Amino acid sequence: MVHYPPEPFRIKMTEPIQLIDRAGRLQSLKNAGYNVFGLKSEDIFIDLLTDSGTGAMSHTQWAAIMTGDESYAGARSYYHLSEVMQEIFGFRYFVPTHQGRAAENILSAVLVKPGQYVPSNMHFDTTDANIRARGGQPVNLVVDEAFDPQNRHPFKGNMDLHKLREFIQQVGQDKIPLGMVTITNNAGGGQPVSLENLRHISETYREFGIPFFIDACRYAENAFFIKQREPGNADKSTLEISRQIFSLADGASMSAKKDAIVNIGGFLAMNDEDLFQQVCNELILREGFPTYGGLAGRDLDAIAVGLKEGLDEHYLSYRLGQTAYLAECLLEIGIPIIEPPGGHAVYLDAGGFFPHIPQSEFPGQALAVELYLEGSIRAVEIGSVMFAYPDPETGEMIYPKMELVRLAIPRRVYTQSHLDYVVETMARIAARKDKVKGYKFTYVTQLLRHFTARFEPIL
Ligand code: F0G
Repeated sequence: MVHYPPEPFRIKMTEPIQLIDRAGRLQSLKNAGYNVFGLKSEDIFIDLLTDSGTGAMSHTQWAAIMTGDESYAGARSYYHLSEVMQEIFGFRYFVPTHQGRAAENILSAVLVKPGQYVPSNMHFDTTDANIRARGGQPVNLVVDEAFDPQNRHPFKGNMDLHKLREFIQQVGQDKIPLGMVTITNNAGGGQPVSLENLRHISETYREFGIPFFIDACRYAENAFFIKQREPGNADKSTLEISRQIFSLADGASMSAKKDAIVNIGGFLAMNDEDLFQQVCNELILREGFPTYGGLAGRDLDAIAVGLKEGLDEHYLSYRLGQTAYLAECLLEIGIPIIEPPGGHAVYLDAGGFFPHIPQSEFPGQALAVELYLEGSIRAVEIGSVMFAYPDPETGEMIYPKMELVRLAIPRRVYTQSHLDYVVETMARIAARKDKVKGYKFTYVTQLLRHFTARFEPIL
């Protein structure tokens, strides 16, 4: 029997969900152009679209909301957050932002010029698009193991240090205004990066004088993986590990909607004073005064509490255990997934599941549609709909290496029986998978096309 860790909390507020019938689901899908981003959440039973902003806040966070200080400048809430920021991240400066992509936008606006490159293990879609929007080129240099779904490497989010060095030498450090790494690696399966790899990444960037920024959305889950899997770290607290991680970098951007377990918020942190001044100017134009960013004072208080709760090891043990439970149950019924499971989600290998659907017909999209049709479950495609781009020179489509569908688990929201229901739904889809067909676009934009694209089934 696969172990499900008991939740280290009990439930004191509920929100009803309903399962509409199959005819209703088909109608909803048609209305949405077969794009699950277009569905009404009321028509969804289990929503695994994202773990971002969908977590349940604790009673302590709700209490903090009530004591938020809404002063325009110098609010008490800002200083609460500032204290926690110092304790965990230790950067000299930070600004709150309304979410992660706002921090990425400001960072790209200030640092990235046309024709420049930003390496990372893998950029997530908003980071990728923010770099492209400034004329830059995001570059993904994750280890090859990341593209082998069955390879159980413990740190499949690691950067390939050899590729990184070669890349810097090939384009020249002048063309690289900053280097990044995403922890955990969301686009590659929510896989962690080891502390040793982070040290080497930092050394390499420093050797070439390239500022090093961490995309820290799921840093606490990454820190717990380091504690569990990397020799020499078992006796350290996740706080100590986190402090070690961030001491290696020059700054970090974070969407607090993930590991800080809030519904909105983020930040951009850095050590460099000149950069901070430029960031403040951009922030005031786009987000708000530096002591509130794009947020209300109460949001800052909820983040301050959530950052600490997100590092709690009883919580993290349950959190990663819940994801591992879903993964093991799916493997037991023969569903191909990225192994080992990551922190915040199970990634279904849609390419492996539907070998008869070519990449140009979007196997991940087909699986996302089936999940909704069969079980009213919403997931997100992370494959060619999200990441296929035409080659800037030849115009030919470049397809991503994997066609994935992510089942992201909101924090402290769903229980074991909800996850069992997901497994049962996948078993029913698997029983008739050979009959599932691919999709084609009927409407598509260039940048971030997965949000608004419309499709029709290929009959
Ligand atoms: N970086 C990573 C690694 C992310 O996963 C996300 C968001 C962002 C940056 C941007 O943060 O949404 O607050 O603006 N990921 C969400 C997801 C949307 O579903 O994985 P944001």
